[in-house]
Amino acid sequence: MDAEKFEKVFLTLSGIMLAIFLVALGYAAIGFGIGLPSRSGELDPSKVDSTSPFDDPGVHQVGPNHYEAVLIGQTWSFLPPRLEVPAGAKITFKATSRDVIHGLHIEGTRVNLMLIPGQVSKITYRFPEPGEHLYICHEYCGQGHHAMFGKVIVTEGKKG
Ligand code: CUA
Repeated sequence: MDAEKFEKVFLTLSGIMLAIFLVALGYAAIGFGIGLPSRSGELDPSKVDSTSPFDDPGVHQVGPNHYEAVLIGQTWSFLPPRLEVPAGAKITFKATSRDVIHGLHIEGTRVNLMLIPGQVSKITYRFPEPGEHLYICHEYCGQGHHAMFGKVIVTEGKKG
């Protein structure tokens, strides 16, 4: 085979691979709901305790089968350290940090956020089944980093 033919073959193969990757990416994004967490606002990190919704951390019902879970990361704990949510419900997590950069990962789920001072991070998730999940800080934030964790209790959701 001459060089020109080789080039054609490689160009065609590259095109096919690119098409396959794009289809796979589209399938992951739409089929599995995989997406990047969004940045949904800004606030003054020194006024976290008096800025809505962080003046009232915890789980609040905001609609039929829709809840908001508000979390603050701080050296070296999460506020609140325990969340209780029903299975099957839509949970919108809103989180921030009051001091340095922390992370938030809920074990066994795709909930994975950076908690950045001055910024509100948001992600939506549904827990399919009742159970318990630890949430941990996954960004090194100082000597108490390893002790920074909490627990989500997923209760039996409403039927139907
Ligand atoms: Cu907070 Cu590591």
